[in-house]
Order: sequence, then C-alpha cells, then structure tokens
Amino acid sequence: MFPNSQNVLDYPNNHCIFMVWNFRKEVSPNDGFKKVCKLISNLNNSANVRFPNAKASVVIGIGYNAWRSLDLPKPLPKEFEEFAPIAGKKYTAVSTPGDLHFHIRSDVKSFCIDAAGALSDLLLEFADCIEEIHGFRYWDSRTILGFVDGTENPHDAEREFFGIIGDEDPTYKGCSYLFVQKYIHDLKAWKGIPVSEQEKVIGRSKSDDIEMSDDVKPSNSHSKLANVGDDLKIVRDNMPFGSVAANEMGTYFIAYASTFSTVKKMLTNMFVGSPEGNYDRILDFSSPKTGTLFFVPTFDMLDEFGG
Ligand code: HEM
Repeated sequence: MFPNSQNVLDYPNNHCIFMVWNFRKEVSPNDGFKKVCKLISNLNNSANVRFPNAKASVVIGIGYNAWRSLDLPKPLPKEFEEFAPIAGKKYTAVSTPGDLHFHIRSDVKSFCIDAAGALSDLLLEFADCIEEIHGFRYWDSRTILGFVDGTENPHDAEREFFGIIGDEDPTYKGCSYLFVQKYIHDLKAWKGIPVSEQEKVIGRSKSDDIEMSDDVKPSNSHSKLANVGDDLKIVRDNMPFGSVAANEMGTYFIAYASTFSTVKKMLTNMFVGSPEGNYDRILDFSSPKTGTLFFVPTFDMLDEFGG
C-alpha cells in the first residue's frame, strides 16, 4: 500500500457507519474542515495504538462541489466530476448531493459510534448530516439478499492497483475515487421467487457461493453485467443495513477505485444494459436512492488541508 494512502484497502468489518454531510449555506466550512482533517489523522493513529486488533479506521471522501468551494488543489483529479445520472429505459442510477463522506469501520461498534460522535461534534458547526447508515456484517459476509458479497474483489497487489491511483495521475498518486449508492431492496418480491431463480439473478449459487459456468450464467445476471473485464476492477466494501420492522432493508454500495470510468462502465452495463435493454435483474429487486462520487486524498494531503 502507498504509505500515505488512507485505509481504503481495508476489508469490510463487522460494523461500520457511513455518513454524508452537506455544508450549510450560511456558514463558511473552511475552519471547520481544517479541524475535521486533523481529527481524521488523529482518529486513525489513535485506533492503531489503542485497538491494534480491531481493524478500526476512518476514511474521509470529499465531494466535487466541496472540493471547489474549499479551494482545494487544482487542476482537479483527472476523472473527478459531479456524478451524472445514468438512465436506462427502466431504471436510473440517480445522482444526489454530498460534500463530505465518512466510512468508519471496526470489529467493535463502540469505536464506530465514538468516532462518528467526535466527527459530528465538529461537523455540526457548519454542515448537516443527510445520511447516517449503520452497516452490519450479515452471517458470512452476505448481502441482505442472502448471497455472499465481495468474493470476486481483488486482493493483495491487485487490490492496491485497482483501488489506488498510481502514475496515471502523478499529482494524486495514493488517492482514490469513492463512489457510493444506497439501495433499498424489495425483499417481499425477492423472497417470492425460488432460490434457483435468485441464483440466476446473481449468477452464483446461494449457499456455497460458487460462480455459474459461462454457458449457464444468464446474460442479465448481476455478476455477468458488473464484470467489465479482468483489467477493469474496483474494491467493493458493501454492507447491509436497515430496519426490520419498517421492511426497509438495503445494501450500501461503496467502491474505491483508481479510475472512476471503470465504475461508470459497470453502472452503464447494469442500468442501460449490454446490449442496451438487457439490464441487470438485480435492479428489479433493488432501488438506488442515492448516488455520489467523492475523492479520497492521502493522509499527507489531509495534513496540508488541515494547515
Ligand atoms: C443492490 C446493490 C448490489 C448488491 C446487493 C450486489 C451484490 C453482489 C453480489 C452478491 C456479488 C457476487 C459476489 C461477489 O463477487 O462479490 C456481486 C458481484 C459484483 N458486483 Fe455487485 N452488488 C450491488 C451493486 C453493484 C454495483 C452498483 C456495482 C458496480 C458499480 C457492482 C459491482 C460488482 C462487481 C464488479 C462484481 C464482481 C463480478 C464478477 O467479476 O463476478 N455491484 N455483487
């Protein structure tokens, strides 16, 4: 891992909190943002010393409009933009605003709660929290749809290659693009189809997580359409979340990537379809409620931003 990268390559943990904050118009975010940058380094350093086995970390991502309003370095990262919706004939990957994103992970929930609390104390001075999602590990790393999530993620050197910007954008070497979507599932419809049908939607077996062979895997299955080639991968850290009684259970999709174009390619395949119209069947059971691109600076850059 690049020595000064944030902890984007960490694996999904037992607990996490995702937070999205938007700057309030009437307050300048500049001084508060500096304090937040310092706190991120402090929280990570402290977690390493206090809980070395908890695999605890906090990653901050900065939205496109926030980057410009905070007057952060120019020229901007090569592929940094405001996420534009991707519309298929039936479903759309919506775009929603977000100035700052926090991804807090730990084996123990206490760390997540305290870190979110310390950040909120600073953020409340100049920003509003528009999303606070408490993700949990569901059985052996399954989505709430019951399928193991993350199996085909890259590992080791590949994880670094696909998750962190390298020499292709030297000014931003060690940084990452961060794309998130909050999905809500129609669990009633999902549970209404047999497991054999669910397996065709994902393209893998449900209980033992084995990939279908190419001659059997449907062309509109999720794993078929999301796979855009061996040399175009992303690092996914999705977590399930939700409220059982309200029947509002979902997947928080989160990807770190060295190129945003790879994420866009996957989304286009899923929502527009490949060929056009052959969209991802997972969308018949999953609705994206948010969609935002952030940029993750290195710890060194956070030190500079923090003054
Ligand atoms: C409703 C939200 C989503 C759910 C529940 C979901 C779940 C899954 C599951 C269960 C797998 C199979 C196991 C694995 O390899 O991880 C998978 C694979 C994958 N997903 Fe998703 N996913 C979602 C959204 C997305 C989105 C939005 C993208 C990309 C923008 C994406 C990209 C991928 C990729 C690249 C793979 C691996 C495909 C392969 O090479 O076999 N997923 N996902």
